[in-house]
Amino acid sequence: MKKTFYITTPIYYPSGKLHIGNSYTTVFCDTLNRYKKLRGYDTYYLTGMDEHGQKIETVAKELGRDPQQHVDLIAADTKKLWQLLDIEYDDFIRTTEDRHETVVADIFEQLLGQDDIYLGHYEGHYCIHDESFFTETQLEDGNLCPDCGRPTKLVKEESYFLRLSKYEDWLLEFIEQNPDFITPETRKNEVVAFIKSGLQDLSVSRTSFDWGVKVKSNPNHVVYVWIDALSNYITALGYGSKDTTLYDKYWKGDEVIHVVGKDILRFHAIYWPIMLKALGVPVTFKLYAHGWYMMKDGKMSKSKGKVVYPDDLVPKYGLDAMRYFLLKEIPYSGDGVFTPEDFVARINYDLANDFGNLLNRTINMINKYFDSKVTKPAKSYFEVDQELKDKITETIELYRSDMDELKVSSAILNLWSLISRTNKYIDETMPWVLAKDESKRDELNSVLYNLVEALRHIGVLLRPILVDASEELFAQLKIPATLRTWDALSFGLLEDVTVTDNPVPLFPRLDKKQEEAFIKDLLNQKKQKVKQEEAKPKEEAFITIDDFAKLELVVGLIKDCKAHPNADKLLVSQVDTGDRVRQIVSGITKYYTPDDMIGKKVVIVKNLKPVKLRGELSEGMLLAGSNKKTLEVIELNDLNPGDKIS
Ligand code: MSP
Repeated sequence: MKKTFYITTPIYYPSGKLHIGNSYTTVFCDTLNRYKKLRGYDTYYLTGMDEHGQKIETVAKELGRDPQQHVDLIAADTKKLWQLLDIEYDDFIRTTEDRHETVVADIFEQLLGQDDIYLGHYEGHYCIHDESFFTETQLEDGNLCPDCGRPTKLVKEESYFLRLSKYEDWLLEFIEQNPDFITPETRKNEVVAFIKSGLQDLSVSRTSFDWGVKVKSNPNHVVYVWIDALSNYITALGYGSKDTTLYDKYWKGDEVIHVVGKDILRFHAIYWPIMLKALGVPVTFKLYAHGWYMMKDGKMSKSKGKVVYPDDLVPKYGLDAMRYFLLKEIPYSGDGVFTPEDFVARINYDLANDFGNLLNRTINMINKYFDSKVTKPAKSYFEVDQELKDKITETIELYRSDMDELKVSSAILNLWSLISRTNKYIDETMPWVLAKDESKRDELNSVLYNLVEALRHIGVLLRPILVDASEELFAQLKIPATLRTWDALSFGLLEDVTVTDNPVPLFPRLDKKQEEAFIKDLLNQKKQKVKQEEAKPKEEAFITIDDFAKLELVVGLIKDCKAHPNADKLLVSQVDTGDRVRQIVSGITKYYTPDDMIGKKVVIVKNLKPVKLRGELSEGMLLAGSNKKTLEVIELNDLNPGDKIS
């Protein structure tokens, strides 16, 4: 039976378009997944979107969209991006899907039922951008989020808590007994230090907004977005559903890898294993936290226009150039930097010069000297043949161990070292000199055969990385399908071969100045756009009479009014609007008691979309005037319920 391999990316926030930073994780996982397929594993690759939470609700509102409409749009765009980057994922989970929401609600109830979650009160500082809670001492400059530097919001609400503290010792022991649970080592040390400083129970529900999974037994609360999001790794496999085939096969299978960026390490290394332990789900995964793509002048930032999008570069420079750059420039345990100069240099030096040219030269020589055909030599003629073969064997070994240890950039470096060695082999054997001597035909044939064999091996190892170029290499060398596999990594398996007589360079050399300028311009345009937006005088936003006419304003008679059962600031009124009695929730307790309200004839917006406010349905809005000191409900005492206001 095949060994199984399950790999996941974080699920992305649909707060906007994804950039090369987020794309890095996805391409990285795609490469590892393709590698495991090449090695004969039965693989499953999961990615998706983290669509709930206050941040998304706010972003959608700012764009004038309904949250669901917003996340639908971004999910569709994200799928297009993964198509552009040729990501071979098996499933794309969205946390707004039923299959996920129902299981998250059940998970919460189970933890509540067994007292791993309890009800209490939360008071603390919340960063909406990071969807993260902080204590006063963690904040920077009084009120700023220690992770992203944005202002936090003081939140005081009833909240459920997950007993992290109960599992502190268990987790430390688990990390100790599973030394490669968290990699790289430096990240593991960070996590251990954090746990040792003492785990506080985690607030795992919110009541101040609606966009999330409702707590089944207390729908005033929505499940904290990280509890919701982390669960995706098992809900997508059918955990907690009727069909748990995938869960049984992959979660409980041979290898489970979560790849995340360093910023979300804590959630995955602490909250997630504790959730699983509490649920009685085996903690089978290994966690790899990678570094970040930075710009020359610091962090990538959409709001400052310091950002690079793959869909700006791929159409012009090709899929493989993008994949290669992304994979190469972030080392195993550090950050990478995107600069136009480096991007062009990687294409010109690594891809065009070293790799593309090696293939092109080899094919041209075979065409020129042997009419497109080389045959398997009977023996070896040069001492350096063995060196080349040894280098190939050594590279396969290094590549294998690097990839198994998730060190993709190191695997690439080693592979390029083989490419350099192969180029050197041409300089050493000098085929153009051999070609001048009729008696050296066998030697010349053997050199060219060895080059094709080296390239065939390079092609196989490149398959997870350069997905188009590796195919193109095989096509131009006309390598049979059976020799494009991991099992065929053995020098000399190739028999006679007839290469294409019309080779096309895989990576044409770029005009350095021109392309650097093009990319710089692209980046500047983004910055300019942000500046222009900021500089724009805020225009007076006129509405037309037609816009106003969309409001259905009527007189409403307040027949009854009570305090909201779960919110101090809200009143719940029963209002006769002529057609029927509707319930309306308003935040006016500071100025009116329920008794003050009963009998008032007020102005009602009748066609406002109904919402639940802290669990109470509100079907409209009553209008009031206010300033900093006071608030006054508008009254129309000589009119009747249902009379129109225009
Ligand atoms: N929604 C959460 C993850 C929930 S997983 C259960 C989230 N989303 S995110 O969209 O903000 O980030 C997704 C991933 O992109 C994270 O792993 C993050 O580290 C990564 N990156 C964001 N910017 C990045 C760079 N500039 N460079 C590399 N990776 C970066 O966090």
